[in-house]
This record gives sequence, C-alpha cells and structure tokens, in this order.
Amino acid sequence: MVNAEITSVLLAWYDVHKRDLPWRRTDDPYRIWISEVMLQQTRVQTVIDYYERFLRDFSNVRALAEADFDRVLKAWEGLGYYRRAKHLHQAAKRIVDNFNAELPSELEELQNLPGFGFYTASAVASIAFHVKTVPVDGNIVRVIARLFGIATDGASMVEKRGIQRYAERLLPEIPDDIPHLVQSLMELGALVCLPDNPDCDICPVRVYCKAKKAGAQSRYPIRRKRDKLPVVHRDIAMIRKDGKILMVKRADDGLLASMWEFPETSAVLARTKRNRFHATHTFTHLKWDLDVFECTVGEIPEGIEWKWFTPEEVEALALPVVFRRIWNRWMSE
Ligand code: ADE
Repeated sequence: MVNAEITSVLLAWYDVHKRDLPWRRTDDPYRIWISEVMLQQTRVQTVIDYYERFLRDFSNVRALAEADFDRVLKAWEGLGYYRRAKHLHQAAKRIVDNFNAELPSELEELQNLPGFGFYTASAVASIAFHVKTVPVDGNIVRVIARLFGIATDGASMVEKRGIQRYAERLLPEIPDDIPHLVQSLMELGALVCLPDNPDCDICPVRVYCKAKKAGAQSRYPIRRKRDKLPVVHRDIAMIRKDGKILMVKRADDGLLASMWEFPETSAVLARTKRNRFHATHTFTHLKWDLDVFECTVGEIPEGIEWKWFTPEEVEALALPVVFRRIWNRWMSE
C-alpha cells in the first residue's frame, strides 16, 4: 500500500519537475538505447551535444551498422570508454542481421547483445518497451538505499539485484507509466537526493524515507574506502618529420583498444630534444601521468603498427581525450 502511494507521488513529481532532455522527447528504442549508453559514464550536459550529433550522423540502427567503424569512433571522441563505441557498432550489426533492424523488446534478448549489461538491457527494456524492470545506476542505488534504509553500497551484482528488487516493487500497474517511474528515480537522484547535501525539504517522498526518519541520509548508501588508483608514468614523444607526426596504434584489446596515440619515447627509441609539458588523465582503474617531449625519431622496432599523419589527419582521427588535449596544446604553443 505504501509502495503504491510512493509510486503515485513520484509520478506526479516527475511530471512537473522532469528536465526536458532530448531522449525524453522520443519513444524510438534506438534513440533511447544510444542515450543510455552515453549516459552510463558521462554527465547529462556533455551527453546532450554528443547525442544530437551522433543521431544526425547515424539516424537509425541500419545507418550505424553500415557505417565505417572509424566514423563511429570519431563521433564518440571525447566521451571516453571507447569500448562502448565498439560494442554499439557490433550490436547494431547484430540487430540488423537477427532482428530485422528493430531492437528486440525482451530483456533476455537485449542482454545477449554486445555491450548490453545488466544496466543497459534494463534501461532500454523499461524505458523503450515498458517492461517491468528497473535499471540500477548510482542515482537509483542512492535513492532506494535511503528510501528503504538499505545498508549497501550497491557495488556488487548481488547488491544491485537487491536494490533492483526494492525498486521493482514501485513499478506502476499501467505499462505506459513504467518509463516515467524509472526516470523519476533517476531524476530524484540527480536533482534532489544528492550524494552530499540531499535537499530533503523539497523531496516528494521525504515522509516515507527511512534514512530521513533516522536523520541518517549521509550514511546511505554505505561508502567503502577505495584504494588509491595506481599511477602509470609514460614519456610521450612528439615526433615531426617533413610536416608529419608519428603515431602508433594501441593493442586491439584492453584500455583504449585499437586507438592511435603519440608513441612512448621508449617504443620508438626516440631522441629527446626537450621536455615540453606534463599532462594527466584518470581512468576508472588507473591514472596516467604523462611527460610530453619533443623528439626526433630513433628507430621503430618491428611489431608495432605506426604511421606518419599530416596535421589534418590527426585532426580527423578519433583521439583519446588526453591525447587530444596534448595535440591542441602542442599546436598552440
Ligand atoms: N541517466 C541514465 N539514464 C538517464 C535518463 N534516461 N535520464 C536522465 N539521466 C539518466
């Protein structure tokens, strides 16, 4: 009974307070899928620009499936987590081949597509197809943990499933309301039930909230201490010859798989002329600490893929964010 009350309060609140976001103006499963993949690791504000541009370039599943992967990667440049672009492209091909270019609506079928984990499959199923499931992201972990007073950090799969079970009890009877309920939880987490200073005074469900009742909002979800990220130091060589820049291709698996980057000095036995500047970049599981040197080429060993690029070609490449920054700085100094 209480759950039904919470549901109707959330739906009413969402209807009035939801942000007008581009992926909320569509019921096209393809568009919803693209937005959910982009939103997984990237802030809403950043996603808005990319989303519109990506959909202009690849307006449906077939256009994405038939596109050259380099173009997809270029459209993704700056969003990070490039494996997502690879999976997106692979999944689009699979959807064309096996599902006649229409996203499948069943949770299990979605979950079998490349890049569709627990979160994406649930998000697309619930928002695009009104399936009774709730995707569990950081916002939803926080909202549900506080609302029901669950002592979890939502980090493991088992804990996520637990949060999902509580959240699913809030799903409305009317299928068309499912996308709104799911996004009301996301929205509450993004606008009101904030990690550090939740604005409980304006929260529509404050009277039901276990954490609020106990004055313990900051204790939910539990925060476990994280280990410090390992730091990887790399000396990067900017090598120019006859107006062209030497780049090497990364391995085809692992971090930034198959992307072009400026070489490490040791990889090309570069001769250092001078140290130009320093750059850092933090990934989810490690940090790069880079020193950028102006070099002349030594000798390029066998076994690495390398190429001389014109500056125009470097501009057109999909570069990892930190290398784009290095390139821009290099060109402006
Ligand atoms: N984060 C993940 N999915 C979202 C959505 N549909 N709206 C807003 N933020 C989100």
